Amino acid sequence: MSASYFQKGILLAGGLGTRLDPTTRAVNKQLLPVYDKPLVYYPLSTLLLAGIRDVLLISAPGDVPSFERLLGDGSQLGISIRYAVQDRPRGLAEALLIGRDFVGPEHVALALGDNVFFGPAWHEVLARSCRREHGATVFAYRVAEPSHYGVVELDGGGRPVSIEEKPAGPKSDLAVTGLYFYDNRALEIAAGLQPSARGELEITDVNRGYLAEGMLHVEPLAGDVTWLDTGTHDALWQASNLVQAAQARLGGKVCCPEEIAYAQGLIDAAQLERLAANSPGEYGQYLQRLPKD
Ligand code: DAU
Repeated sequence: MSASYFQKGILLAGGLGTRLDPTTRAVNKQLLPVYDKPLVYYPLSTLLLAGIRDVLLISAPGDVPSFERLLGDGSQLGISIRYAVQDRPRGLAEALLIGRDFVGPEHVALALGDNVFFGPAWHEVLARSCRREHGATVFAYRVAEPSHYGVVELDGGGRPVSIEEKPAGPKSDLAVTGLYFYDNRALEIAAGLQPSARGELEITDVNRGYLAEGMLHVEPLAGDVTWLDTGTHDALWQASNLVQAAQARLGGKVCCPEEIAYAQGLIDAAQLERLAANSPGEYGQYLQRLPKD
């Protein structure tokens, strides 16, 4: 198996959360619970599962201290987590400008803080994407209301032919999910973007740049990966229900960063014990019960 090209990940966890007002008036959306853990644990788990060891978490100025309290410098998980501020939400692609020095000359994965992925096939899909040296990889998921999302249209061979942000007349029912794997060219493409009609630096325009160069790869996600975005009260409530149901069936947790860090050998059994001891309640008891080598 060839190595991963991805060591660095940006976790974008800012935004105004206006669609969830008043719930998000005093609390950042990504700190709200999805069933038994904060929302940000889910995209963080995705980055860990992808083998990312160096994370830059970007959030609003008033919210960064809360994330620091929750996640610290990442060393408890055997990784590094640094923090940066987005002073106001100018669009998803601004993450690539804020994170320019962090990324340096390397590849970067960008994860939106409100996207939840889990399922038995997810690890392998991520591993495959991380072995891709050139271009961008996005993940497409069939949805009932594509006009709420970025939408990608594929030809008969599975190659993308168009990608549009929240189109009124979507050309397919494939939503582009909030996880993007980029080679270093993304920094250049992002630097050349102009704000869209709604005044945002659109991640869809970065993906469009790759598409124009024939370098956009699309991984359609099948039924063995579940994807949820949590932008509305309904979606957030459904996500909690689905995670609860999946965990009850599995007899374990999905998107538990401590468990993933241990499984990946980033922390040892003694460190996992310490994390368990520091987490009073059911979550800590779960960590305590995990089989250790
Ligand atoms: O969830 C997938 C969708 O995410 C994609 O299909 C779309 O192409 C993509 O544009 C995005 O659409 P949303 O409308 O869901 O993005 P939203 O504005 O809700 O932002 C997603 C997350 O990123 C959210 O947790 C807030 C955060 N954010 C957003 C913006 C615009 C920031 O931290 N900074 C920002 O400037």
